[in-house]
Amino acid sequence: MATDVHRPVNPKADQTAQATQAVRANGTVQAAQAVHVEGLTRSFDGRAVIDRLQLDVRPGEFVALLGRSGCGKSTLLRILAGLDRDIEGTVLVPRRKAVAFQAPRLMPWKKVWRNVLLGLPGKPGRAVAEQALKEVGLEHRTDAWPKTLSGGEAQRASLARALVREPDLLLLDEPFGALDALTRIKAQRLVGELWQRRGCAVLLVTHDVEEAVLLADRVLVMDDGVIAHEQRIDIDRPRDITDPRFAELRAGLLERLGVDTAAEAA
Ligand SMILES: Nc1ncnc2c1ncn2[C@@H]1O[C@H](COP(=O)(O)OP(=O)(O)O)[C@@H](O)[C@H]1O
Ligand SMILES: [Mg+2]
Repeated sequence: MATDVHRPVNPKADQTAQATQAVRANGTVQAAQAVHVEGLTRSFDGRAVIDRLQLDVRPGEFVALLGRSGCGKSTLLRILAGLDRDIEGTVLVPRRKAVAFQAPRLMPWKKVWRNVLLGLPGKPGRAVAEQALKEVGLEHRTDAWPKTLSGGEAQRASLARALVREPDLLLLDEPFGALDALTRIKAQRLVGELWQRRGCAVLLVTHDVEEAVLLADRVLVMDDGVIAHEQRIDIDRPRDITDPRFAELRAGLLERLGVDTAAEAA
């Protein structure tokens, strides 16, 4: 990872930050985990949506997070992104992290390339944005206004905005949820390629089991405020959805989610 310092979202967790770092033989410090969460609780109006949750994500690991609507996936992602600090427990994340949501959240009064650089420290030049836009196949829209972009293009711009941060941890909250089927497949492929090229850890929140099995090293199911189930996906990439092992993993996860696959097939 480019950055080896973990910063607790909760400042009280400083001491544990040391514990997640391993010193390499050459004396440099390497983070043992990209994400380390211990005993995390987040309550709203006295109700614990996240309840003593534990989670570790390895550097460079692609993790998908499933769970019924309202189970707390976005709440967890926002905490990892540092957007919600009203928590109990320990949360350690890399300093360099970036997040993309289902809605691309582009500023309509700024051209695409300026949106990509929005909020970046140190006044980076246009070339930085151009490079990221090229990486997501959107260089031809560098000077476009956000309202002229298609849904898929806007989501690519949002991904470019995440990439210029050179994240060690990329947090994605249902980024393809609003896209049509074909655009969605292209966007999934793009995220898979970006992840392999960049080598960052990814936490992808999705409601799509097939997407999770297609992309992730490990799939988590959240329920009752904790990670209730995890499934390693040991299928070589690129993955073939017609592979029988794919169907098996998909069915197992659907069952965990309470979806009756026999009824689905009928
Ligand atoms: N800011 C908030 N204030 C009150 N309740 C919230 C807030 N954010 C989320 N919640 C509640 O927490 C629960 C989990 O929400 P969320 O994390 O968005 O679920 P998911 O992303 O899994 O669909 C829901 O019941 C939601 O209403
Ligand atoms: Mg959500």
